[in-house]
Amino acid sequence: MEILRFVVAWTLLVSSVLRVGSEEPMTLAPGDVPAIYNFGDSNSDTGGIAAAFFPMAAPCGETFFHRPSGRGSDGRLIIDFIAEHLKLPYLSAYLDSVGTNFQHGANFATGGATIRRQNESWFENGASPFPLDIQVEHYVQFKARSTYLYNNANETSLKSRLPKPEDFSKALYTFDIGQNDIATGFRKMTDEQLRAAIPNIVNQFAASLQQLYKEGARVFWIHNTGPIGCLPVTTVSVHNPVPGYLDENGCVRSQNEIAIEFNKQLNNRVVQLRTELPQAALTYVDVYAAKYGLISNAKSQGFEEAHKICCGHHERGVSIWCGNKGIINGTEIYSGSCPDPSTIISWDGVHYTEAANFWVANHILNGSLSDPPISITQQPY
Ligand SMILES: *[C@@H]1O[C@H](CO)[C@@H](O)[C@H](O)[C@H]1NC(C)=O
Ligand SMILES: *[C@@H]1O[C@H](CO)[C@@H](O)[C@H](O)[C@H]1NC(C)=O
Ligand SMILES: *[C@@H]1O[C@H](CO)[C@@H](O)[C@H](O)[C@H]1NC(C)=O
Ligand SMILES: *[C@@H]1O[C@H](CO)[C@@H](O)[C@H](O)[C@H]1NC(C)=O
Repeated sequence: MEILRFVVAWTLLVSSVLRVGSEEPMTLAPGDVPAIYNFGDSNSDTGGIAAAFFPMAAPCGETFFHRPSGRGSDGRLIIDFIAEHLKLPYLSAYLDSVGTNFQHGANFATGGATIRRQNESWFENGASPFPLDIQVEHYVQFKARSTYLYNNANETSLKSRLPKPEDFSKALYTFDIGQNDIATGFRKMTDEQLRAAIPNIVNQFAASLQQLYKEGARVFWIHNTGPIGCLPVTTVSVHNPVPGYLDENGCVRSQNEIAIEFNKQLNNRVVQLRTELPQAALTYVDVYAAKYGLISNAKSQGFEEAHKICCGHHERGVSIWCGNKGIINGTEIYSGSCPDPSTIISWDGVHYTEAANFWVANHILNGSLSDPPISITQQPY
């Protein structure tokens, strides 16, 4: 029996790894993972902040959706590759009121979101008014209202767009958040103050996860934060740095050190959560290692120099963001996209291209960068 289970799991692992992103169906039985509920920032926002405020502008979405799709990229995000891998549809944003389908989950992520509530507004600084605790509130409302409607709806057309109430406890709960707590920290605090705030940030993350557990969530897939010091929007404006300011891959060393410290404390907190939440399966995923691995091996992995930006113009204090116009040296410039986004890692200086997201997804889904090292299809759904 154990051997059989092992063989089955191993076969699923191998077949699913080989088929990431391919058109062919996987051997994972349909319905093994009934739904995904995602929480996070723009790294996994599939249309939330765009629905709440302003739509994304072209050329976002050009590679895959062929229109702006509410994502900060030319195409799919890691969360889209996760959905494909589990044979589920792309997640609708909870905040989107048009054309949504929540039968297989919902996305509560919003661009700019932090773990901790910020003391500033979206209009001033782009801080999302939907930080993690609010995203969890949205989930609680969503669960209660969709359960009520599902149980009381007579029209199959309504039911078919809602999750089955019993699926909430069997769903996958994914997280990718923390980058903006660090980015805001760089803006408003000294490095020492930011380091001192990390335990509080990580504890608030844990509190949100505990609340989801109380609601019945059991399977958690937690991305750590990426190498923020490698984001080209920062690195392209570094000129004549003092020796040691940049590391051997051109990333801001002190910024990455803070991300690494956040990740260390997040990992420790996840270990602690395993004893606090005995029925939960918690997987900590080292997205940092995947992204940094890609950046440090860009050329051998088929990408151009890692600090190139595909869409957007950032130099000497002048920023024209992707899809916008601006004046540089008296000339109006439109920031359109590069000829071949599939060879560039950074889409707009902050977000990754679809090609980079695909590469990262391929390196995390089989569990080789996870603690415990279990693939996304082997979770106890
Ligand atoms: C917001 O301001 C309050 C009161 O000054 C402070 O205690 C809190 O730490 C601040 N939050 C953040 C995320 O900076
Ligand atoms: C569904 O149908 C039942 C029985 O026909 C009826 O009592 C109930 O009011 C209907 N519910 C809704 C939401 O229309
Ligand atoms: C603007 O002018 C500066 C100084 O002459 C030059 O270094 C820079 O490349 C120019 N920028 C663009 C976009 O032409
Ligand atoms: C996981 O996938 C990556 C990328 O394809 C590969 O390099 C790695 O060896 C795989 N690990 C396992 C345990 O299959």
